[in-house]
Amino acid sequence: MAALIAPSILSADFANLERDLGRIADADYAHVDVMDNHFVPNLTLGLPIFERLAKVSPIPLDAHLMIENPDRWAPAFAEAGAASVTFHAEAAQAPVRLARELRKLGARAGVALRPATPVEPYLDLLAEIDMILVMTVEPGFGGQSFIEGTLPKIRRAREAVSESGLDVWIQVDGGVSRDTIERAADAGANVFVAGSAVYGAEDIPAEIATLRELAAE
Ligand code: DX5
Ligand code: ZN
Repeated sequence: MAALIAPSILSADFANLERDLGRIADADYAHVDVMDNHFVPNLTLGLPIFERLAKVSPIPLDAHLMIENPDRWAPAFAEAGAASVTFHAEAAQAPVRLARELRKLGARAGVALRPATPVEPYLDLLAEIDMILVMTVEPGFGGQSFIEGTLPKIRRAREAVSESGLDVWIQVDGGVSRDTIERAADAGANVFVAGSAVYGAEDIPAEIATLRELAAE
């Protein structure tokens, strides 16, 4: 399976987002972390900025909504042009209804799980979603270290997806770097978010290429 790399612009320069999107033009998606200071103790950017990013980005946007009440807000990110919209399982009131709405608007629908949230309740609903995001850190901040204890959950999700025969992607987000990406790939992830590892690199395109190679091995 091809490995998809989605650098997180959380580690970009927020005064130069257009320039920094240009720096990851070799990647598959630009991962945009939306935080509301309620679902997570941090605040980033909202819809007006996202709408502008969608207009100027050279690559498709992957919205990761770390917000309360995604049922109310997520569709607007699809309407703004997100290729993929991921909401948190812990925050959504009607995840299946919301996923259907996102798909109807032309976006891929993703469900994100905090490290302590089990994947089992979603394994019967794989036909309704396009991606499971297994958080490999507690959401809220970049630069944290990868939680190894999330690997069995990635494995369980991959087994269930394989058994189903459906094309559901498994994304990992948090602490993904040269040191951890192979273990996540080996467990079954195929979409890799990396913030500090990519934007902290001296040669960003080379780092993206290296991560892609390590994940594909
Ligand atoms: C954290 C965000 C991540 C973050 C990852 O809550 O969802 O996307 O940018 O940053 P790194 O790759 O530095 O762990
Ligand atoms: Zn994220």
